[in-house]
Amino acid sequence: MKQELYKRYTITSALPYANGPLHIGHLAGAYIPADIFVRYLRLKGKDVVYICGSDEHGAAITIKAKKEGTTPQQIIDKYHQQIKNSFEEFGIAFDFYHRTSAAIHHETSKEFFLNLYHKGEFVEKFSEQYYDAEFDQFLADRYITGTCPHCGNENAYGDQCEKCGTSLNPTDLINPKSTLSGKTPVLRPTKHWYLPLDKYQPWLEKWLLEGKKDKLKPNVYGQCSSWLKQGLQARSMTRDLDWGVDVPLDEAKGKKLYVWLDAPIGYISSTKQWALDKGKDWEKYWKKQPNEADNSCLIHFIGKDNIVFHCITFPSILHAHGDYILPENIPANEFLNLEGEKLSTSRNHAVWLHEYLQDFPGKQDELRYVLTSILPETSDSEFTWKDYQARVNNELVAILGNFVNRVMVLMHKYFEGKVSGTSAHITDELVKSDIAKAYTEVEESIGSYKFRQALAAVMDVARLGNRYLTEKEPWKLYKTDPEQTREVLQNCLHIIGHLGVLMQPFLPFSAKKIFAMLHINRDSVDYNTPVWFEDGHSLGQAELLFEKVEDSVIEAQLNKLKERANAAAVSQSTAPAKANISYEQFTSMDIRVGTILTAEKVAKTKKLLKLTIDTGIDQRTVVSGIAEYYAPETIVGQQVSILVNLEPREIKGILSQGMILMAENSEGKLTFVQPAEKFEAGSVVR
Ligand code: MF3
Ligand code: ZN
Repeated sequence: MKQELYKRYTITSALPYANGPLHIGHLAGAYIPADIFVRYLRLKGKDVVYICGSDEHGAAITIKAKKEGTTPQQIIDKYHQQIKNSFEEFGIAFDFYHRTSAAIHHETSKEFFLNLYHKGEFVEKFSEQYYDAEFDQFLADRYITGTCPHCGNENAYGDQCEKCGTSLNPTDLINPKSTLSGKTPVLRPTKHWYLPLDKYQPWLEKWLLEGKKDKLKPNVYGQCSSWLKQGLQARSMTRDLDWGVDVPLDEAKGKKLYVWLDAPIGYISSTKQWALDKGKDWEKYWKKQPNEADNSCLIHFIGKDNIVFHCITFPSILHAHGDYILPENIPANEFLNLEGEKLSTSRNHAVWLHEYLQDFPGKQDELRYVLTSILPETSDSEFTWKDYQARVNNELVAILGNFVNRVMVLMHKYFEGKVSGTSAHITDELVKSDIAKAYTEVEESIGSYKFRQALAAVMDVARLGNRYLTEKEPWKLYKTDPEQTREVLQNCLHIIGHLGVLMQPFLPFSAKKIFAMLHINRDSVDYNTPVWFEDGHSLGQAELLFEKVEDSVIEAQLNKLKERANAAAVSQSTAPAKANISYEQFTSMDIRVGTILTAEKVAKTKKLLKLTIDTGIDQRTVVSGIAEYYAPETIVGQQVSILVNLEPREIKGILSQGMILMAENSEGKLTFVQPAEKFEAGSVVR
């Protein structure tokens, strides 16, 4: 990419769902690369806005709320704050971190929808969708489970079977069930507004496949061309949901915008809020300017699961609107794995950022360094704790930290930490030209989104410094030629200065430490103002930049992962938690100890027993689905817990008055919930 063409940049990182904390996969996917890019552009003196925020709509949020037995609002408030903190702690340098629940975002999204609506862009269609009659609502794909038609997995979701990976439509499922009521949902017609991607296909082929052939990363280009080859279909931009941005049409009461319509518009609304706060003009960053050369350069940093939305859907929306610029590039990363397995939130197989910050306080740059070294830029990559340890110890400590430390210590030892002469230059021509090369390499690599390569070029400067020191041996030289020794060490100081400059986008905290150590009182040192030491400049104390990671620390992290894997294996088979109920709801249930007086099989059924129970109040009949676990003759005389004030129900022609409480394990086996000792019938359970 020709960086020099643009003077203004609009950089975005995918808006993370506010449905859980961040882990290292997030950082490696869409945040560290963007942060490096943005910090670099700022050092080059460019006008940049770096935008992000929490994605707070869609089924991702409502499902999490249901799981935690709370409201979507509480979920997004909790995780928005936590996510924002983690980003701050790791130095992800957003200009603004917003959230899609904000009013300005709802307004902006509705405006966008109406703009396209009035242009007649949407295709309005009725379709049959699953509806839960008991809960009186349409079901999002994730709220429907059933048997996968491909592999027979009985717990496939309406949008995907996680066992065989096939993507599904809810109507593909065999024996579909609503996860709300557990009942079979019914199909009902519903109207939605579709974005005609098929209509935009020729334009997309030209703009994307032809126009960006040499710009897009191969992994991104490949996905896009395969999508376009398959042929695009219209995609619904509205949903029957109760959480999200309202569809701004009278006839669409109760419907919401599709989360993948509103979320990318979040980039725009976030920029708007930033501009309001800072007295800037947001339109300069998003809208086509009268003179094309004044357009901002829009770049979306994302993970690979977001490619279609950022390369196809969102550009189509911007194009249909007409006033907006289109992305210059979409440098998506692939996935990061952890210790040989996919990162998984549900199985808790992750390195969570908030936990890393607790376990490794002040060591943000160490993680930034390791993750940048292994970014999944062209294919999936892998984080292991052993590798983390090796990179920190053998690279950060042994190469970078060691070089800086040796120079600082020697300057203090021989010259009381004082620079003399005003030489702003490296006097060794070879070193000088190597450093110039490193700058070029770093800039070219960053410009083509090769951040691993760029970081390697920075580390080469530290290697160069170590080599230079070893070659010149100032500790020997000093005995014969102190002046020459000074020259060597001051050359090294300049190398450190350059290292500091080059490190800033990658290791911002350590770069600051270096400048502080050198007593260079600047918050950041841009590319155009070299590090300069005045005659008599005095250096700060030598401080270690990095510490060795001990084996025990790594073992502790590995154990943590192991324990979690075990815990997850247990809880995977555990039924999900239900929403909280009030104390009154609890006490409204009249549960008692009862004694089984008689038991017999219900004719023509496999599962049912007809029981007579002494409840202490009366003797009554209860039909119970326990025949597979108990032979009738073995349970007479046993004590059980019985819910006595359950509405009587007729089952197989028998009036059943109450419910026997059973414990059910993960295999579906049932057993009585009984008092631990014989108790009189009618005793209250509470
Ligand atoms: N929340 C989405 C995810 O985590 C990403 C949204 S990116 C945006 O996959 F474009 F919608 F903002
Ligand atoms: Zn399947």
